[in-house]
Amino acid sequence: MDAFRFQNPTALYYGKGQIEAHLAEEVLKYGKRVLVVYGGGSIKRNGLYDKVMNILHGAGVTTFELSGVEPNPRLTTVHKGVDICRTEHVDLILAVGGGSVLDCSKAIAMGVKYDGDVWEIYARKGQATGALPLGTILTLAATGSEMNAGGVITNWETKEKLGGGSPYTFPKFSFCDPENTYTVPRDQTVYGACDMLAHCFEHYFHKTEHTELQQHLIEGVIKTIVHNTKAALDSPNDYHARETLMYCSTMALNGMINMGLRGDWACHAMEHEVSAIYDIPHGGGLAIIFPHWMEYVKSENPSRFASLATEAFGVNPEGKSTDELADIAIAKVREYYKEIGAPQRLADYDIGDENLETMAAQAVRFGEIGQFKKLGKDDVYNILKAAL
Ligand code: NZQ
Ligand code: ZN
Repeated sequence: MDAFRFQNPTALYYGKGQIEAHLAEEVLKYGKRVLVVYGGGSIKRNGLYDKVMNILHGAGVTTFELSGVEPNPRLTTVHKGVDICRTEHVDLILAVGGGSVLDCSKAIAMGVKYDGDVWEIYARKGQATGALPLGTILTLAATGSEMNAGGVITNWETKEKLGGGSPYTFPKFSFCDPENTYTVPRDQTVYGACDMLAHCFEHYFHKTEHTELQQHLIEGVIKTIVHNTKAALDSPNDYHARETLMYCSTMALNGMINMGLRGDWACHAMEHEVSAIYDIPHGGGLAIIFPHWMEYVKSENPSRFASLATEAFGVNPEGKSTDELADIAIAKVREYYKEIGAPQRLADYDIGDENLETMAAQAVRFGEIGQFKKLGKDDVYNILKAAL
């Protein structure tokens, strides 16, 4: 293993009834002026907005609102949030929504304390100097943003989508009630599953040795996502499938299963370039790119892929070579994406080869990407071309 320091300060409230029982108490720890951030209206349609507002107002909290956070949240929306927080002397930001709402809120929280444009932090031209306290109520199992410090923001003017964060942006608390995910539409449930799986794959493919427990933990999460996504797609109100997926989303990216290793993350870097130009759903882009990346890097360490086949997808290794098992692993991944209805090719989003050069150049603008195999511009170009 690599040496590591681990700390995750987020207080998690999981399950039914937690919002009613503990939201007011958590909010009041930070003050009485709260900016509630949410997306395009799903929380108004499913009743969560009313529930949260009643609790806050009942506790004597003054609320301000920032609505309309876009999927792939934009810098312009972050700026609006920063302005509200400064003008209204907000004490706490409460993000109610999916990863986009949470990420936008993290950027606002850092932006309020930053002397300059918060984009500089994402563009690696500045470092966070603090953040307003942030709490979350998660409504979509996918990103893990509820228990990590990261966030991804799109600068639509420069066509850049960049991740950033700081130790200040761990949510102080997150409420994860699986019932709030019953209304997540089928396509978003699929994208969420693809994103969680992608986080597992990013951790799984690395060069660090002696990571036996991490390997089994990751395989366990993969198996659990595979099984429960199908159950949630069959019955969207299946509480146990939804709670298990929610827990998978948190575990896949809260740092617990990947201590002591450096994951790959090239596919995320490539997907962000595609989203930056075409504004596609993150999970959909990952489902398209991952199998092509797997083909491209397989020869680095076929036995890693063979383990994926046998341990995560339950393939019987008898009579099969490591190379055969590696091919089966990739076939299993493709098969699974197809089965749940994930997109297969960039063409599914009407993406052609017109911006391949730009996307490849941008993906490596800070240097080579990937750990399992270092990728330069030509490698990224080849992988995206194969995915067309
Ligand atoms: O905007 P509303 O109306 O709320 O609708 C949203 C949105 O249209 C809808 N939705 C969410 N919860 C719902 C619901 N609809 C009905 N019922 C509910 N309960 O779903 C749509 C997508 O929401 P979004 O928040 O965009 O999805 P997701 O959670 O997948 O977040 C994606 C964003 O997170 C970033 C992605 O790049 C992307 O920008 N990521 C963040 C990470 C992190 N912070 O750690 C890591 C990830 O790798 C990822 O990059
Ligand atoms: Zn992701």
